[in-house]
Amino acid sequence: MKLRLEDKIALITGASRGQGEAEARLFASEGAKVLICDILDDKGQDLAEDIRSDGHIAEYFHLDVSNEEDWQNAINYISKKFGGLNVLVNNAGIGLRKPSILDISAEEWQKVLDINLTGTFFGIKTAAPVMKDSGSGSIINIGSIAGTTGHFATAYTATKWGIRGLTKSAALEFASWNIRVNAVHPGIVDTAILEGSDDFKEAMSWMTPLGRVAGPEEISPVVMFLASDEASFVTGIDMIVDGGFTGTGAFRQVFLRAMAQPGSKL
Ligand SMILES: NC(=O)c1ccc[n+]([C@@H]2O[C@H](COP(=O)([O-])OP(=O)(O)OC[C@H]3O[C@@H](n4cnc5c(N)ncnc54)[C@H](O)[C@@H]3O)[C@@H](O)[C@H]2O)c1
Repeated sequence: MKLRLEDKIALITGASRGQGEAEARLFASEGAKVLICDILDDKGQDLAEDIRSDGHIAEYFHLDVSNEEDWQNAINYISKKFGGLNVLVNNAGIGLRKPSILDISAEEWQKVLDINLTGTFFGIKTAAPVMKDSGSGSIINIGSIAGTTGHFATAYTATKWGIRGLTKSAALEFASWNIRVNAVHPGIVDTAILEGSDDFKEAMSWMTPLGRVAGPEEISPVVMFLASDEASFVTGIDMIVDGGFTGTGAFRQVFLRAMAQPGSKL
């Protein structure tokens, strides 16, 4: 039986832990050759070794996504090592949850933009020509539900909205090279990016119709679908994976509040 990513060559950023790690493990188990990229070198090396010890193919390469030269080096490495590039997951990201815009410094603003948005731009720019030479490509940009609404993490939210525009523009431009470009917008996922934010996680679970946060392994199969040939006619879309938060969360709370009134009628 053919594996779902058999013969695919994939580069995943921010893959030493969290959602990127889940994607690396899943992609490799479905037959992809995976380049794990991150700035957490020890973790990334250990992960690659672990995946190889299960009989799959994975390598680690240091890549700071905000550095264009690092991108060129990573793309050169994967081209030489594995012979091309078919899948790019722009997953690396950092958070900055500050309740007020007035508290965000210019340096903080710029850092979030450099990693979350410019990093994704560099990734698309350096990967697309190699994907063209490889015959086809799928680029998946990891956004957030913060990119579908206003949110108190303003710099982060601005980058995730930016990712949506970048995704659609790149999908339009690179369709003629047989490269699909899509965005995945997770809701709340239990990873290190939310360390120390237990109150936030609890409130988000309460507001989410499925009533909980997701595990990283609940996002990776969606990313894998978009990476695979099963999604061969899917490009330029925003795929929301949020337990119903953005689609139905508000009405759920309206319903619960209305029904809590004595003798309430809807
Ligand atoms: N966890 C959530 O609730 C959630 C929700 C929506 C979207 N996201 C997005 O999902 C993506 C993955 O995040 P996660 O939840 O796995 O968190 P995480 O913190 O576990 O993973 C992020 C990874 O990105 C790496 N990274 C940070 N800066 C980098 C840089 N300059 N260059 C390369 N790698 C860098 C980190 O080292 C880490 O391995 C991020 O883009 C994040 O914004 C997360």
